[in-house]
Amino acid sequence: MTESLVHKSRLPVHEILGPKGGAPIVGLTAYTAPVAKRLDGHVDFMLVGDSLAMVLYGMPTTREIDLDTMIRHGRAVARSARRAAVVVDMPFGTYEKDKEIALANIERVMRETGCDAVKMEGGAELADIVAAVTGSGIPVMGHVGLMPQRAKGHGDFRTKGKSEAEARRIVKDAQAVDAAGVFAIVVEGVVEAVARKITEAVKVPTIGIGASVSCDGQILVTEDMSGLFSDFKPRFVKRYAELGDDLEAAVAAYAQDVRSRNFPGPEHVVKKPKAAQPKEVPYPRG
Ligand code: KIV
Repeated sequence: MTESLVHKSRLPVHEILGPKGGAPIVGLTAYTAPVAKRLDGHVDFMLVGDSLAMVLYGMPTTREIDLDTMIRHGRAVARSARRAAVVVDMPFGTYEKDKEIALANIERVMRETGCDAVKMEGGAELADIVAAVTGSGIPVMGHVGLMPQRAKGHGDFRTKGKSEAEARRIVKDAQAVDAAGVFAIVVEGVVEAVARKITEAVKVPTIGIGASVSCDGQILVTEDMSGLFSDFKPRFVKRYAELGDDLEAAVAAYAQDVRSRNFPGPEHVVKKPKAAQPKEVPYPRG
């Protein structure tokens, strides 16, 4: 197992997520330090998902994001999480074809971010590579069902497992990565019966996204559930806040204050001291 460059205080990922059959596991995505700090007291794990390609960078698919960018975001999140496990997504093209290349890239992610585990999209065809990584002592989260890195068009984002053949293949994929030693499996965008079948068929916890309550835990993209990302809203997302609207209202109020010279007010301005005054606290940024 590769030594991390980042100091961490968190428990090993298996202990944080607990064994299958315990309380439902709570996951959310985190891409930045301030969001990771807000999530830390509430979730069991944070995923630095490659969804950041679309959500943060406005790219058309998750396939555009590169390893260096994932590492920068992974390090910011891993530095900020004291309690929750941090899992970093391996980006498209960095792990699927060759065991040695996969291991080298994954070891780099573990060492340079200080994360607790990586996530890899893939089923039976990826099992040998997953086994090599878990065999080297690196915890891997699997990801089966709808796999956005492989989607070529809108059609590939439809719910999976509607036909018998496809349902059987997805269950086999989950069993293959389970046997290859993953510690948990994200099950994305499958019909409920398939999510239930997978959850019964594997030894490790399943983490659903758009896959029903039959999974052992759930994950959502934080920007989706908080209303910060509003380009589209998948049916499986429940909105717990409208932060995008709140942000826009705050920005409008600020713009109005600046234009009407109501900001900055006297309380935001430093004046030359007449006599002894309390010491100014320096602004720690910039
Ligand atoms: O990239 C991501 O955010 C993910 C989740 C949707 C599971 O893979």
